[in-house]
Amino acid sequence: MRLSFAALLVAVQAFRLGDLQIESSNWPAADSVPSDDDLIKISLDELYSIGNSTKLSDCDKCKHRLLYAKSLALVKPTLIPSIFTEWCIGTNALQKDMCLRIFGRTTVQNSYAGSNFADMVSLMDPISYDGDYYCHYTESACDYVSPPEIDGSELWGGSKPEKSKYAPEAGNETFYVLHVSDFHIENDYVVGGEGNCSVSMCCTPHSFNDDPVPQNYDISSNVFLQDGPGEGWSFYKSSYVDNIFEKGPYVGYNESTWWPATSFGHYNCDAPELLINSTLKAATSLQQQLNLNYEFAIFTGDLVDHDETQYITYESTLLAEESTFRDVKYQLGDIPMFPVLGNHDTFPYGQLAQEKYGFSNKFDWNNELMAELWRDYDWIDFDEEQQVREHYTGFSVKTKRGLKIIALNSNSWYISNLYAFINISQDYDSFGQFQFLVDELLDSESKDERVWLIMHVPAGADMLPVASQVFAQVVERFSPYTIAGIFNGHTHRDEFKVLYSGFNGSNLDAQTAENAIANTWIAPSVTSWIGLNPSFRFLEVDSKTFSVMNAYTYYFNLNETFTNNGTEPEWRLEYDARSAYGVNWPQFAPLNATYWHEVSQKIGSSSSSLQQYENFATRYSPYTYKCSESDNCDTFYCYVSTFTIDQYVKCCEHFGLDSDI
Ligand SMILES: *[C@@H]1O[C@H](CO)[C@@H](O)[C@H](O)[C@H]1NC(C)=O
Ligand SMILES: *[C@@H]1O[C@H](CO)[C@@H](O)[C@H](O)[C@H]1NC(C)=O
Ligand SMILES: *[C@@H]1O[C@H](CO)[C@@H](O)[C@H](O)[C@H]1NC(C)=O
Ligand SMILES: *[C@@H]1O[C@H](CO)[C@@H](O)[C@H](O)[C@H]1NC(C)=O
Ligand SMILES: *[C@@H]1O[C@H](CO)[C@@H](O)[C@H](O)[C@H]1NC(C)=O
Ligand SMILES: *[C@@H]1O[C@H](CO)[C@@H](O)[C@H](O)[C@H]1NC(C)=O
Ligand SMILES: *[C@@H]1O[C@H](CO)[C@@H](O)[C@H](O)[C@H]1NC(C)=O
Ligand SMILES: *[C@@H]1O[C@H](CO)[C@@H](O)[C@H](O)[C@H]1NC(C)=O
Ligand SMILES: *[C@@H]1O[C@H](CO)[C@@H](O)[C@H](O)[C@H]1NC(C)=O
Repeated sequence: MRLSFAALLVAVQAFRLGDLQIESSNWPAADSVPSDDDLIKISLDELYSIGNSTKLSDCDKCKHRLLYAKSLALVKPTLIPSIFTEWCIGTNALQKDMCLRIFGRTTVQNSYAGSNFADMVSLMDPISYDGDYYCHYTESACDYVSPPEIDGSELWGGSKPEKSKYAPEAGNETFYVLHVSDFHIENDYVVGGEGNCSVSMCCTPHSFNDDPVPQNYDISSNVFLQDGPGEGWSFYKSSYVDNIFEKGPYVGYNESTWWPATSFGHYNCDAPELLINSTLKAATSLQQQLNLNYEFAIFTGDLVDHDETQYITYESTLLAEESTFRDVKYQLGDIPMFPVLGNHDTFPYGQLAQEKYGFSNKFDWNNELMAELWRDYDWIDFDEEQQVREHYTGFSVKTKRGLKIIALNSNSWYISNLYAFINISQDYDSFGQFQFLVDELLDSESKDERVWLIMHVPAGADMLPVASQVFAQVVERFSPYTIAGIFNGHTHRDEFKVLYSGFNGSNLDAQTAENAIANTWIAPSVTSWIGLNPSFRFLEVDSKTFSVMNAYTYYFNLNETFTNNGTEPEWRLEYDARSAYGVNWPQFAPLNATYWHEVSQKIGSSSSSLQQYENFATRYSPYTYKCSESDNCDTFYCYVSTFTIDQYVKCCEHFGLDSDI
């Protein structure tokens, strides 16, 4: 549909709120049809006049720009990216790379979401929660608002759990599952490149530091590289060939870098493929050492690196997805891996459209590629492949022992997915994902099957507040009888969260052992970005109920590989979850929500448990906070003892802390 310019003016006026009138002397006569150049100029003037208004708050200005964009989307959606980019950069509304990421014209050469922004404004209602949340999360212009009360029980027809409100009792046999997360392969990692760069992601061919290194700068003045010359700095270009580590040639480092990148990775960089191979090899070697026989692996998302969006191309996204899964397949052989995609594993970054609005063809390439690849690797069967292809926000698989794994694409509720701001409160299931999830759960409940949920973004971190609330309702309805585990990634930190029934964030007395009904396992990342040691874990799982009996987390000190003359890292057991916090827990009981409630209470009441949590979260890296010396750990109790975004915000308010949401 294309409206005339006169219709645009009518639309603009119609969208204006009565008491928020803005001077618009520069409108041309309504019957003239301006050229694109004129329309760009008129639009910029309009955006500037909104920006210069003394009557509007920053939040209202943001919503007015959305209203303007919405009317423009009816006439000339293709002009929106250039107009908004020019406005954003010209007025320093956001940092330049954010201006480009959100508004820049979408091409295969860079990960800019301008056309997705245009799609979004065409359907959103700026004067509603859509605008509130867009302007909060994307432009930091509006304050956080609590979501409206939404009753998700219509998703399950208001039915109550019929069988039991308890989980089935664990048996006496277990099996093992590998859990890896957040690979973030940096395919253009440069050994010897700048690891102390001026932008967020380093070690690439385009990484540089704005400040030139001083003349005669001695890199061994860097505490991390002090031991280098004697022991041997690890500037080797090495690789695994037929799964055997081969130390490659010494390539040295660039003399004009502050902190050159070494072979196995850097604390300011994502994972070189060498690190990915080392991780997978360590994980599979444990099988022989400990007689584990992983029955399957789960991967909770993020293959693509964190480089600036201008350097992420369609091709590099494909390469990251394909090369990482290929390396996994090589190592795991016949062990199937059940994966979900993360917020980085799409193009442009973070975007995923609802099927019903007709934009989903922009993203079909990804689910089609994944469906084919995972089927080729024998991770999913024919029917599952069809599901991945068609319902790309979710699919389910059944393991050979009868555990159902429901995999959800969490971009549908991710705070940087522009499509997720459409009709946020009125149509909370616009992706159809919650209905899919609930239908799967109802089916499992009726068959007494137990279910694991895997998804990238956890409910209480970077998830939009409305979806977070609805998701918690679904989890509560089906826990603990049907849902036996929830597994996430995304934060890179090794974390967990507890869901309490009857808890709203403020009534902390509802955080009791009896009310604890579900918990999430947020897995540590393989990537060391940022300031973390690489990590993975395996789970010990009850064969009868699929409840998690224990989790063994492995890591190595990345800093030790900087000066070990390029030899392989020494992976070691970091901790096992059952003994780590000294909770007195029955030997045959699973590490369920009640267990994590006990841990959470310890974290809230003992400074040594709080420090222990931070040590695990970061895997004892050189950047691990000393909780007693800073306020960096103050929000951790609220983090682990809440499930939704809003509960977390309210818990922080309760303690007078900044939730930073
Ligand atoms: C105010 O208007 C001037 C001139 O139109 C423009 O250059 C400036 O960017 C505007 N300020 C904002 C915050 O939009
Ligand atoms: C495990 O449980 C089964 C069924 O409850 C029982 O028959 C078996 O003897 C038990 N095995 C061991 C080693 O305790
Ligand atoms: C070394 O780094 C400098 C500064 O980042 C860069 O200009 C130069 O091209 C690099 N040299 C090599 C050989 O990579
Ligand atoms: C470091 O490795 C190189 C090449 O692998 C080897 O020649 C050298 O002897 C090693 N240096 C030390 C101190 O081990
Ligand atoms: C990683 O392993 C894969 C599969 O064996 C291999 O093709 C690739 O070259 C390896 N890369 C490195 C850097 O070790
Ligand atoms: C990183 O670079 C800054 C200059 O931008 C310098 O002051 C600092 O010492 C460097 N740190 C390391 C560890 O190289
Ligand atoms: C928003 O949701 C409501 C309720 O489901 C629906 O009536 C309306 O058409 C939706 N708006 C859009 C733009 O899809
Ligand atoms: C967790 O296990 C303990 C011990 O078996 C049990 O008392 C508790 O009810 C369980 N909690 C949940 C949420 O299943
Ligand atoms: C690496 O860091 C750990 C703590 O994070 C420290 O204990 C260790 O001494 C460091 N090792 C080297 C070789 O720098």
